[in-house]
Amino acid sequence: MIGKICGTGSYIPSLVWDNEKLAQLVETDDEWIRERTGIARRHLIDGEETTSYMAAQAAGEALKDAGVRPEEVDLIVVATMSSQNIMPCTACEVQNVIGAVNAACFDLNAACTGFLFALNTAQAYLGQGIYKTAVVIGTESLSNMVNWEDRSTCILFGDGAGAVVLKASEDGRYSQVTYSDGSKGDVLTCSSRNQKKFEDEPRDGSTYMQMDGGEVFKFAVSKVPEAVRELLDQEQMTTEEIAYYILHQANVRIVRSVAKRLGEKAEKFPTNMEEYGNTSSASIPILLDELNKKKTFQSGDFIVLSGFGGGLTYGASLIRW
Ligand code: UT7
Repeated sequence: MIGKICGTGSYIPSLVWDNEKLAQLVETDDEWIRERTGIARRHLIDGEETTSYMAAQAAGEALKDAGVRPEEVDLIVVATMSSQNIMPCTACEVQNVIGAVNAACFDLNAACTGFLFALNTAQAYLGQGIYKTAVVIGTESLSNMVNWEDRSTCILFGDGAGAVVLKASEDGRYSQVTYSDGSKGDVLTCSSRNQKKFEDEPRDGSTYMQMDGGEVFKFAVSKVPEAVRELLDQEQMTTEEIAYYILHQANVRIVRSVAKRLGEKAEKFPTNMEEYGNTSSASIPILLDELNKKKTFQSGDFIVLSGFGGGLTYGASLIRW
């Protein structure tokens, strides 16, 4: 028994900051950002939008796509590092909004690899026969954690949410590899959330997102291909059998480098960071939803999902569409 993806959804906030807007805040320019990252714009929460609001919208859309009623949902797992409240968890807030009255709900945080860890967790519940229907969500309001005076980080991140509905099925495939290296924790850190609320207070910058970009880059381009190869070896599959690779959308140069290291064509690695920037745990499900809506996948396609990020953490999962 595995959890088969039978619906996807996403929520993208409507406030858009393009690279020109960032050039008004820090010393940067559109050409540098596009060339070094592939990012042109990012969407940010505004007004009533929050991490759980976006998650609930994405989950509602995914349930509609799957033709599943909220009461049928047994489990909601939310991957996030930017919930607006510590308690209740985002998953419980989503449950309340969408009316998934029978669901068990919890959050987990594995930074940008969070969606993969959440998917693995839901798969374990469904695989054991504990639950039949799960919603897995990645949702982030990184605009609350970014220092908008630090050009080395603020150009990268955006807000958004993506969700998938999983139904227990005999027909399907799921396998994964995930790893963590806590000894590299200092490479990517953030010690406080919801910092926009306190933006009038003087701050030294140390509580915001801090990153050694070069180290993360090197980590990603070595560990992602390693995880994908291990996954394929484990499943006795070759890269030729994979229709698409859905990678965490951090930097187009990372995606291209991974494709090259795997000896694969860039066309098998769709990207959307140009529009949304890096939305951390939301990036993989947002891209999945976008491609699902475009009817990119054929039934039976093998797809590899792969992510990396704070922790440091990384992993890869194989699904059959
Ligand atoms: O979800 C995981 C999260 N993190 C990541 O995935 C980050 C992975 N790393 C990266 O994407 C890249 O390392 C960055 C995009 C962050 C940086 O690109 P880079 O090619 O590694 O640039 P760099 O940090 O080596 O900086 C090159 C130059 C420096 O100037 P000098 O020393 O050569 O004069 C920087 O000061 O570019 C300068 N620079 C900028 N210039 C204009 C750094 N940030 C900017 C900026 N605009 N925003």
